[in-house]
Amino acid sequence: MTAVFDDALKQSIKSIRHNLDALEEFPESFKNGAWQPIEKERAAGHWVDGFWTGLLWLAYAHTNDSLLRMGAEHWTNRLAHMKTSTGTHDLGFIFYLSHVIAGRLTGDCAWYENAIEAARTLTARFNPRGEYLQAWDDDGIRKWAGRTNIDLMMNLALLYWATDLTGDAALADIATQHARTSRLALVRGDGSTAHVADFDPDSGLLIRREQYQGYSHDSCWSRGQAWALYGFATCYRHTGIPAFLTTAQALAEFTARHLPDDLVPYWDYNSPHIPSTYRDSSAAAVTVCGLLELAAVDNEGASRWASLAQRILTSLCENYLIRDASGPSSILRDGARSVPANLMEHGLIYGDYYFLEALTAFTRPDIYQRALAVDSVLSGASE
Ligand code: GLY
Repeated sequence: MTAVFDDALKQSIKSIRHNLDALEEFPESFKNGAWQPIEKERAAGHWVDGFWTGLLWLAYAHTNDSLLRMGAEHWTNRLAHMKTSTGTHDLGFIFYLSHVIAGRLTGDCAWYENAIEAARTLTARFNPRGEYLQAWDDDGIRKWAGRTNIDLMMNLALLYWATDLTGDAALADIATQHARTSRLALVRGDGSTAHVADFDPDSGLLIRREQYQGYSHDSCWSRGQAWALYGFATCYRHTGIPAFLTTAQALAEFTARHLPDDLVPYWDYNSPHIPSTYRDSSAAAVTVCGLLELAAVDNEGASRWASLAQRILTSLCENYLIRDASGPSSILRDGARSVPANLMEHGLIYGDYYFLEALTAFTRPDIYQRALAVDSVLSGASE
C-alpha cells in the first residue's frame, strides 16, 4: 500500500505546484480542464478558501520547498481580513486550515492571533435559546436565523483550539452546546444524518429536519455524513463526553454499511438512482479523515476504522486520482458539490485537501500529528 500512497502523494504535490503557478483567485471546482470561478457574490470570503491554504501548507511540510511556503503564506494572508466576518458559519474551516496549521507547521505563533479573533467572531452566530450556531444568513427571501446544518460540526475544532490556547472556556462551551444540539436534531437513530435543522429562533424549539444538498428529507447526504463523523470524533477528543464517541461510532457504522463496492460513496447514500447516479469523491476523502480521527480516540475500534480508511483511500488513489496533469488540475475527479443544484462531475478543492490530509496520515504520521494535533494510530491498521 505504501507505494500507492507515495505515488499519489507525488501526483498531488505536482498538481499543487501547477495550481500555485496558475491561480489568481481561490479555487473551488475543476471542470473542463480549468478551475471554475466562484460566483461573484460569494467570491469575497468563501467557505472553501481554507482548503487551498491547507493544501499549500501540507505540501510545504512534505517538501520543505520555500516556494510552496511563500505561496502558503501569501494565500493565508489573503484570508486574514475574514477574521471579523460575521456573515459566514465557516470561519472554522477557513482559519483552522490556514492560520492554525501555519502556526503549527512553522512554529510562529503570530499566525494564531487572527485565528483567535476568528473564533470569537464565529461565536456571534450562537443562539443561546436553541443552543446552536446559525448556518447561513437571510438572503432577502428566506429567513435563516433558526437554521443550522451538519457541516457546521467541522467548525468546532477552531473553538476548542482557541480555548486551549487562551483559556477562555466560553468558546469550547459554545462548541459543546452546538454539538449536543446537532446530535439531538440532526443524527437519526440508525446512525444517518439530516443536513439541516430548523428551530424557532425565539423559543429555541426544533421545528423540523430538512435536506438541502441531499436527495430528500429522510435521506443521507454522503458528504454531510462525513462532516458529522469527523466533527463528532473531534468533539470527543476535546471533551471526553461519551455520547460524542458513541455518535461518531454510529455514524461510522452507518457509513460502513452503505459504502458501494469501490468504497467511494454516491452523493447520497439513499438515492434511489444508485448505481446510475453521481459519486462524490470528496465525501470519500472526508470520510477517510473522519475515520482516522475516530480511530485516534476509539481504542477498541481503532484498527477496524483505520483499516476501512486505508481501503477507501486506496480506491481513491486507484480509481479517482488524476495522473500526470500537465497544468492546473484538481487532484481527484468525480466530486459532487451539490447534485440538487446540478453541480457535479468535477474536482473539488475540499476533496483534494482531505485526500492530501489522509495521504499525510498514512505516509508521514509525524507531519499529520504536527499539523492536525491528532495522534496517529496507523501502526495498528490491518490490511
Ligand atoms: N457547505 C459544505 C458542503 O457543501 O459540504
